[in-house]
Amino acid sequence: MTQQSALVTGGASGMGRASVARFLDRGFGVVIADLNEEVAQRTVAEFTDHGAGDRVRFVRTDVSEEADFEAAVSRTRAEFGRLDVLVNAAGVGGAFGPLTEIEVADWDYTFDVVLRSVFLGTKHAGRVMREQGTGGAIVNFGSIGAQAAGIGVQAYSVAKAGVEHLTRMASLEFAPDRIRVNAVSPGIITTPLIGMTSDDLAPVLGTIQPLPYAGVADHVAAVVSFLASEEAAFITGEVITVDGGMMAAGPQLGDLVNNNPALRGLVGVNRGSTGARSTIHRKVEVLAEGTR
Ligand SMILES: NC(=O)c1ccc[n+]([C@@H]2O[C@H](COP(=O)([O-])OP(=O)(O)OC[C@H]3O[C@@H](n4cnc5c(N)ncnc54)[C@H](O)[C@@H]3O)[C@@H](O)[C@H]2O)c1
Repeated sequence: MTQQSALVTGGASGMGRASVARFLDRGFGVVIADLNEEVAQRTVAEFTDHGAGDRVRFVRTDVSEEADFEAAVSRTRAEFGRLDVLVNAAGVGGAFGPLTEIEVADWDYTFDVVLRSVFLGTKHAGRVMREQGTGGAIVNFGSIGAQAAGIGVQAYSVAKAGVEHLTRMASLEFAPDRIRVNAVSPGIITTPLIGMTSDDLAPVLGTIQPLPYAGVADHVAAVVSFLASEEAAFITGEVITVDGGMMAAGPQLGDLVNNNPALRGLVGVNRGSTGARSTIHRKVEVLAEGTR
């Protein structure tokens, strides 16, 4: 069998780059499709020097351009003889500001990079994988910004919601070909995109984000690699949130609603409006004031 290969958009930086590292570790040939030539060339040189040899290549690609994406898919097939995995990691923050002020061109740019690209990749990689007849895996990047309105900026979040739903829809279309389509939905991950360090995130860690340590690119890349592997052979159409528990926690209403007695160190049972008595069993020390 020819070598397995992966095409990773946005593979020069952040979570795309960490995904490239995971696939190289697994013996894949990898093509990085990215717009930033300088960073991509540096990334390729680093991987090449650290044992990947000629299994890692770069093709300058604007993922929002159909001809570019189609060429990146063809190049991957030409370099390694086949295409097994597409990871759609390229992304930008895009338009921001009040909806009444956002320029249409900035809104469209955001949708082109974030959502149109995933359609283009699915179209062209899907064609090749279908023709190969040996299945395949597509892993998209959503965002927790797609899941609630108070997290990210408008165009980006709405486009990411599109990515997450396109993931589900494409999974149906490609299931007969054994091509699985899934997504990761990252929380706050310390990459060049957000430009924050774990120190900057200190107020969030263990509070808004329940896990008390910062999310790093490899936390997400590990899930990307899993979704693209045979270990995930029965998973398709799924969006896996990788956010240190932030979405599980939901709005942090604390003591405001339901008058949560646990926050005052009380343990017991609330029997609601049943007519039966509610009881307090004991009082315990409150260890983490301010968290749930
Ligand atoms: N960092 C976070 O907290 C976070 C949270 C949720 C979702 N995401 C998403 O995760 C993905 C990876 O982001 P990251 O944080 O690793 O960012 P990053 O900035 O480190 O990497 C993104 C890469 O995409 C490339 N890119 C941008 N536009 C492109 C285009 N038109 N064509 C080709 N390449 C292009 C950039 O050059 C860069 O190398 C993105 O889709 C992002 O929206 C990030």
